[in-house]
Amino acid sequence: MSIFDDRRFLIPFRSQLLPQLFTDTLIVGAGVAGMRGAIEAALHGNVIVLAKGPLDLSNSQYAQGGIAAALAEDDSTAAHFLDTMTAGAGLCEVPAVRILVDEGPGEIERLIQGGMRVDRAQCGALALGLEGGHGRARIVHCDGDMTGRELMRALSASVRTTAGIRLFDKCFAIDLCVDSQGRVTGALTWHPRFGLQVIWARATILAAGGAGQVYRESSNPRVATGDALAMAWRAGVLVRDVEFMQFHPTTLYVAGAPRHLISEAVRGEGAVLVDRAGNRIMAGLHPQEDLAPRDVVTRGIVEHLARSGDSHAFLDARLLTSTGFSKRFPGLAEMLAGFGIDGGRDLIPIHPAAHYTVGGVQTDVDGRTSLMGLYACGEVASNGVHGANRLASNSLLEGLVFGRRAVIAAIKDSLADPVPMQWESRVRTSVAGELDLDDVRSSLRSAMWRNVGIVRDGAKLRDCLDMFSFWGRYALGSVFDNPEGWETQNLLTVGHLMTRAAAERRETRGAHIRSDWPLADPAGAFHLGWVLGESAARRTPVGSEVWSAS
Ligand code: SIN
Repeated sequence: MSIFDDRRFLIPFRSQLLPQLFTDTLIVGAGVAGMRGAIEAALHGNVIVLAKGPLDLSNSQYAQGGIAAALAEDDSTAAHFLDTMTAGAGLCEVPAVRILVDEGPGEIERLIQGGMRVDRAQCGALALGLEGGHGRARIVHCDGDMTGRELMRALSASVRTTAGIRLFDKCFAIDLCVDSQGRVTGALTWHPRFGLQVIWARATILAAGGAGQVYRESSNPRVATGDALAMAWRAGVLVRDVEFMQFHPTTLYVAGAPRHLISEAVRGEGAVLVDRAGNRIMAGLHPQEDLAPRDVVTRGIVEHLARSGDSHAFLDARLLTSTGFSKRFPGLAEMLAGFGIDGGRDLIPIHPAAHYTVGGVQTDVDGRTSLMGLYACGEVASNGVHGANRLASNSLLEGLVFGRRAVIAAIKDSLADPVPMQWESRVRTSVAGELDLDDVRSSLRSAMWRNVGIVRDGAKLRDCLDMFSFWGRYALGSVFDNPEGWETQNLLTVGHLMTRAAAERRETRGAHIRSDWPLADPAGAFHLGWVLGESAARRTPVGSEVWSAS
C-alpha cells in the first residue's frame, strides 16, 4: 500500500455551514465534450457546468488542426475506422471506434447548421486538411489553424442561449461526493468568491480534459492538471491505460518560450522534418514518412536526436512560402513572428512534447464509469476509441460524439435521490505554507519528463515510483485551501499512476516506448486497469468488455 492508495482525501463532507446547490446534471469541464454535453442535458433538465479557469481556457480552445470525419464524397467511415484502428496499435475497441466514425459526420453537420464557420474551397466544398495517420484529407478546419477557437465560440454561443444551463467559471471541483452505496452524488467545489460549496446532482459528468501539465515539456495550457482523473481515482473509479501519453512531434523549441503546438496540418501541406544539416528525418522510416501516425514520427525524431546529439530538429515549411504559410496558418504565423521566425521562409525549431492523455477514466460507449452516477467523456475518459495512440484530430470529434452520448445515458439512469438525509464533514484545517508548491510541481514535472517521458526504462520508472511515494507522504498529507495546492496533489496522484502503469506494461506499443522492452508483446493486447486500494492491475483483453448499448 502506498500513500496513493489512501482514501483520506475522499469526501463525504458535511457541514450545515457549507452552501448547497442542486442540479439535474453537473458537468465538470467546459471544453468541447462538456459544452456539447450541456446542450444535450438542457433538453432534459437543469445543468451546471464548471470551468476551473476562465470559460475560454481549455485544450479544445487551442486546437489547431481540426475535426476528423469522413465527409468527402470519396471518403468513407470504413476508411476513417481503419486509420483510427491502425494508429491505436491494437488497443482500440471496435464498437467505440465504429460509433466515433459513424456519428462524427452528423455532429459536424449539426455544428455547421448551428452557425460554426468552416473553411471552404472556392467551389464551396469543405476545405479538408491532411494529418498524420490519415490515408486521405478529412480534417475540417476553420480560419486555417484556429479551429478550436471557432468551435468553442459556436458551442458557447449555443450554451449561453439555452435555458437551464448555468456556467460557473473559476470554480474548482475538489472531490466527488460518494454516498454509502458507492454512488456519485455530486461534487465539492470551491470558488474564490463563494468559497466551498456542495453541488448535488442526479448525474455527474467528468469532461475536464487531460493531464499534459504533469510533464515539463507540454503543449497543454496551464489548466490541464488532471484534476478530474485524480478526483475520480480518489472516489474509487476504475482508471485505464494511463501509461499512454501522446507526445506531439512538433512543438516550438525556443529557449524560454512555451512549447507552442505546430500543427500536424503543416506537414499535411507538405512540410518535412529535417535535422540541422537538412537531412530528412522520416524518409525511409515509414511508408507515410512525415505523415506517419504520431507515435512513429515522435520516435523517429527522438531516435535521430539521440544519434546526432542535437537538442532539437526542424520543420521545413519553406515550400509553402511566406505568403502561403501565413494564409493557411495565420495563427501560427503570428505566434512564430513573435519569436522572429517566418514560418514559410525559416526553418522552425521543434521538439516533441506531451500533448494528449490517451488513457483515463474507463467508460463504456455511453460514458458510464465503474461508479453509479458518474460519467466521463473527452480527454479524461478512456472509452476505447484511441487505443495506444490517438489518431490526429480525433479528439474534438470524440468530445462531440461521446459528450452527447454520456449525457443521454446519464439522463436515462439519473439518480432519484442524490441528496443524502445526513452527511458528515471531514474538512480539515489548512496547513498550507508548509510546502513550496512551485518547487514540488516543477520537480514532479521534470522527473516525469526525464523518467516517464518519450522513451522509458524499468529502472528509471521504479526509481521514480519510489521518489513519488516519498513525495506523496508529505505532499498528499498536507491540507490546502487553494487550487494551486489541490492541483499539485492531483498532478502527483496522476504522475504516480502513469508511472506505475508504465512500469507494468513491459512492451513497446503505440505511444508507450520502453528501451528495455523494445518490441510489442504479441500477448500485449490488453488494457491495464487500476482501482484505488487494489495492489495489482486488472488486465482486460481488448474486445472483452461488456458494452452497453443504450
Ligand atoms: C495538431 O493540429 O497537430 C493537433 C491536432 C490533434 O492533436 O489532434
